Amino acid sequence: MAPPSRANGKLAVVTGTTSGIGLAVARQLLEGSWRVLGVARRPGAIEHDAYEHARVDLHDIDALDTALAPRLKMLLAELALARIGLVNNAADPALLGPLAALDARRLPLVFATNVAAPIWLIGALVRLAPPAATLRIVNVSSGAAVQAFPGLAAYGSSKAALRMAGMALAAELDSTAETALRERDIAVLSYEPGIVDTAMQAMARSQPLDVLPSRDLFVRFEAERRLVSPDAPAREIVAFLESKRAPRFHEQRLGG
Ligand SMILES: NC(=O)c1ccc[n+]([C@@H]2O[C@H](COP(=O)([O-])OP(=O)(O)OC[C@H]3O[C@@H](n4cnc5c(N)ncnc54)[C@H](OP(=O)(O)O)[C@@H]3O)[C@@H](O)[C@H]2O)c1
Repeated sequence: MAPPSRANGKLAVVTGTTSGIGLAVARQLLEGSWRVLGVARRPGAIEHDAYEHARVDLHDIDALDTALAPRLKMLLAELALARIGLVNNAADPALLGPLAALDARRLPLVFATNVAAPIWLIGALVRLAPPAATLRIVNVSSGAAVQAFPGLAAYGSSKAALRMAGMALAAELDSTAETALRERDIAVLSYEPGIVDTAMQAMARSQPLDVLPSRDLFVRFEAERRLVSPDAPAREIVAFLESKRAPRFHEQRLGG
């Protein structure tokens, strides 16, 4: 990573930067002079002086303590930061199927990636960010967090939990007796990216109907050419990270 510059003290942590929306967000941030720490299991797909990649499996909360915590501490201590972004984008959609047939033993893995790891990251940044820095947090949500789709009980309920975690953080910051914490410029966005042309949509379209009874919805999205490029939601996510003023918590859907 290039040496810190006081002129552009902006650091973003983005999960899931090896494909899809996370990759588009990281690229746009780099164009906007942010430094980016990307997190995913695969090797980094971005070559840029201001990009650093951490290969971490978000299933593994212990790995966050050992591999990510020291790196975050170093970055946050070294850089002269005016603005910090967190994009909790990575998600595990793999546990599909009607609820009555779900293997409950696999649920903790889904919730580790989709809920516990994002909460870990939010906590780490709230604790470690310089108090004077603006902190913008995006939790990438889904229509499945607020609407029931047959076959998406695991994924949808994990997204619903993440949405609520963001709301809880906002309520805590607004109600804390600690004036210094209450006055910090921290805002959370729960963001629904719409129907995006990524590996996740392709995976949904390719499922057998007994595994994903709502599969034809995803097939129809493609047939009706409703999929948008990952660049479209990435632009809105980046705009929020750059925002001067923001409500403590709000929700937004692509184009909304
Ligand atoms: N595409 C859509 O239409 C749509 C709609 C609503 C919501 N979303 C949400 O948008 C977000 C991005 O999805 P996408 O569509 O861009 O999917 P994608 O192209 O499949 O990207 C998912 C990213 O998450 C990372 N990831 C997954 N599991 C991980 C783990 N255990 N540890 C670390 N990284 C992990 C992947 O990296 P590695 O494989 O390298 O680990 C990849 O970079 C997700 O939160 C998804 O729920 C997407």
